[in-house]
Amino acid sequence: MTSPAAVIVLAAGAGTRMKSATPKVLHRIGGRTLLGHVLATARALDPAHLVTVVRHEREAVAAHVAEVDPAALIADQDDVPGTGRAVQCALEALEAATGAPCEGAVVVLAGDVPLLDAGTLAALLEAHEADGNAVTALSTLVEDPTGYGRVVRGPDGEVTGVVEHKDATPEQLAINEINASVYVFDGAALREGLSGVDRDNAQGEVYLTDVLALARRAGRRVAALVAEDSIVVEGVNDRTQLATLGAELNRRTLTRWMLEGVTVVDPATTWVDVEVELAPDVTLLPGTQLHGATTVATGAVIGPDTTLTDVEVGEGATVARTHGSLAIVGAGASVGPFSYLRPGTVLGAQGKIGAYVETKNAEIGAGSKVPHLSYIGDATIGEHTNVGAASVTLNYDGTNKHRTTIGSYVRIGGDTMMVAPVTVGDGAYTGAGAVLRRDVPPGALAVTTGSQRNIEGWVASRFPDSAAARAAAAAQPTDEQPPAPTGDAEPTDGDPS
Ligand code: UD1
Ligand code: CA
Repeated sequence: MTSPAAVIVLAAGAGTRMKSATPKVLHRIGGRTLLGHVLATARALDPAHLVTVVRHEREAVAAHVAEVDPAALIADQDDVPGTGRAVQCALEALEAATGAPCEGAVVVLAGDVPLLDAGTLAALLEAHEADGNAVTALSTLVEDPTGYGRVVRGPDGEVTGVVEHKDATPEQLAINEINASVYVFDGAALREGLSGVDRDNAQGEVYLTDVLALARRAGRRVAALVAEDSIVVEGVNDRTQLATLGAELNRRTLTRWMLEGVTVVDPATTWVDVEVELAPDVTLLPGTQLHGATTVATGAVIGPDTTLTDVEVGEGATVARTHGSLAIVGAGASVGPFSYLRPGTVLGAQGKIGAYVETKNAEIGAGSKVPHLSYIGDATIGEHTNVGAASVTLNYDGTNKHRTTIGSYVRIGGDTMMVAPVTVGDGAYTGAGAVLRRDVPPGALAVTTGSQRNIEGWVASRFPDSAAARAAAAAQPTDEQPPAPTGDAEPTDGDPS
């Protein structure tokens, strides 16, 4: 297949049936906009020029094109409606940009047909070249052709034209071969055809589809290639189709990864965006959603019920019941259940972020653990450090954010409050319940709580006859029963015999 001279993507329509403030082509499936999918497929054909036609919500659509494919040319459609007019505007913009009329194969795609693949287009281009056609349209056979343009064939089976649903005769309405709105044209034949198209139809539009009948009448070859897999040519017009095609795209993505050696325990509840990268022997448990540029290395187990966006998961790591974005999980590390990894979290190899732990802008070194009920934000933790349960970096003073730095081989006692900015040196310990307002030198023990005082009999005097007082009285040692050891007593072997 030779590369086309140009690909024209039509994205000027309003998409009213979406009932949305967002232009139709900017709705997303599989982590990309509908238009983004079409542009990626168009680019895969390696065309000399790629043109996107815009009009409805022009600024938003043009900005999106500039973001996902900066080399693509933007063509503005004027107020003459119709797909034919859109292509005319694209050809004019292209000629203005290159200084010459476009010659050779021109592919036209609709911006709302997201599952169309480069392989189908390559086959269309090959048929177009091999048969020396002026127009090769892609068609497909559907059970219910309502709303689509019908491919009309003569007695010899040759394509004589495409007629829109609203312009079709009853006999034509019975045709179930529909026009997909995907074509290869010869550039010169396309220009010539468009110059002869009028707006004399039910919708008062310049129909691109009229070019087929005009080319045929001018004695040129017009053909339609029937796509076997009709879903690849399906367009999105409303949100039910958005969901259907989104689910189908996901099924295809999961199938591709399963064939590459990824275990997907429950494809029905697993969602993977098209740009996610998975290594062989990754396991995805039910309820896993992987978005954006997430990558997962071999042997890692993700899920159940985990949503990761732009997260890098290392070899052999486990991430269970976790919500994470823009984070890195090191090889062999363990995250979850019920963890919240916010942007800037970097967990080292063999590290742990456990249950009910939230992290943000936090580098947690190799082998270091934050196992339970903690918030670690704007912090750096060295290697092989343990952060006791319910410890918190108090990074926000109400106005500014500050950093906490914790060294290696540190033992942070349970319920330590680290009032940032604060540094805990290598090998230091903190007592349970410490509130650190000053730095802790390496190897020191920081204690900030007073020693414990027990006021005997306080409950009985304050709340006499209460349930607590009665329980306390019942627990008083009697003559028959030896006293239970208290925390203050020396430990005994406890074996009276
Ligand atoms: C079109 C085809 C129809 C085909 C169907 C497949 C024509 C006349 N009809 O109909 O034969 O079966 O697609 O889905 O081409 N667009 C513009 N400018 C416009 C109008 C549309 O850029 O003035 C763009 C839209 O943004 C969209 C694409 O062209 O990406 C198709 O437009 P749409 O209005 O959906 O065409 P249909 O009526 O569905
Ligand atoms: Ca359509």
